[in-house]
Amino acid sequence: MTVCEYRAGLEGIPATQSSISFVDGQRGVLEYRGIAIEELAAKGHFLETAYLLIWGELPTEEELELFEHEIRYHRRLKYRIRDMMKCFPESGHPMDALQACAAALGLFYSRRALDDPTYIRAAVVRLLAKIPTMVAAFQLMRKGNDPVQPRDDLGYAANFLYMLNEREPDPFQAHIFDVCLMLHAEHTINASTFSALVTASTLTDPYAVVASAVGTLAGPLHGGANEEVILMLEEIGTVENVRPWLEKQLAQKGKIMGFGHRVYKVKDPRATILQYLAEQLFEKYGRDEYYDVAVELEKAVEENLGHKGIYPNVDFYSGLVYRKLGIPSDLFTPVFAISRTAGWLAHWKEQLNENRIFRPTQIYTGLHEATYVPIEKR
Ligand code: ACO
Repeated sequence: MTVCEYRAGLEGIPATQSSISFVDGQRGVLEYRGIAIEELAAKGHFLETAYLLIWGELPTEEELELFEHEIRYHRRLKYRIRDMMKCFPESGHPMDALQACAAALGLFYSRRALDDPTYIRAAVVRLLAKIPTMVAAFQLMRKGNDPVQPRDDLGYAANFLYMLNEREPDPFQAHIFDVCLMLHAEHTINASTFSALVTASTLTDPYAVVASAVGTLAGPLHGGANEEVILMLEEIGTVENVRPWLEKQLAQKGKIMGFGHRVYKVKDPRATILQYLAEQLFEKYGRDEYYDVAVELEKAVEENLGHKGIYPNVDFYSGLVYRKLGIPSDLFTPVFAISRTAGWLAHWKEQLNENRIFRPTQIYTGLHEATYVPIEKR
């Protein structure tokens, strides 16, 4: 069967069937396995959410305890991975470091027993456990410090902030970060998840699947936008400058980072929750200097581009939350990757259940029966 209509970016073309998450872009609805994101954010936590996404059901108390225990046990990095990281240039982007580290895990655990549930579970646990450690280790190493070892008495979110900032976060900060991880964990077939699916469909190992997704997430049109948002807010600088800046940007047909979405035509429900989290953090630890600029920019963009369905996406307020948690701006996208690993792994597992290699078609626009011209005659 050949479908001849070409749509740039595969817009509107189903590339898979999935029961993991659902988005209604007109009503601003996001559900993980049928549960509204607002409900999960209010009542759940990240590892429980990861389990739900990957295994399809909320875990029982014993299942969750075992899962958390396994993750805690696998958080440490092999010394060879740490040695490899020492050779990375400090000026390199942390997403590139993370992609290299995720791929390097495949060197140690490359057995591709994709029909063995024990292998699948071990890969899920290792990736969820080690990716935060890799992100934090790169941050400390590029500052010339030794990485901090994970602490078994801390939960997933608290341990990451501890390894990153070399001090234990207070429970409120850890809770806010945990909610951020939940919000970013999954989002149907976005670019990085599609990349993960294509890689998974060749039956390669899960470390290659996650490494390919990390590379895709890094781009400024996808996960990289959260870092760009902060640079943009810094460039705008003041509330008074918002409208002149926007006018100039629109005149140059420039994109406003953190706005617009292929699926959402209203404000992304995750942006609403993140804005609320940002306000909670500011109440306790002081207002971010760029928050008022962000709020004014949201208003101005809505006035100018709301008719095109352009509203804040998940990346718009996340950076302001991360800054308050002491996370440097070039780690915003790696933090996104920590969380999205849960979604990528859920899709990897789902793809394996009914795998067929991705091999789409193309519409050829080149020449036929062209002549080879000898080099001296070109
Ligand atoms: N600022 C200004 N105009 C925009 C924006 C924006 N952020 N987003 C879309 N538009 C305009 C486009 O210029 C285009 O206008 P036109 O029809 O008059 O030419 C129209 O809206 C459609 O935009 P596309 O780029 O074709 O929409 P697409 O669905 O392909 O892209 C995307 C979606 C990539 C997210 C886009 O909105 C964008 O580039 N946003 C900024 C980057 C960003 O925030 N990315 C994060 C997305 S969320 C995530 O991946 C985690």
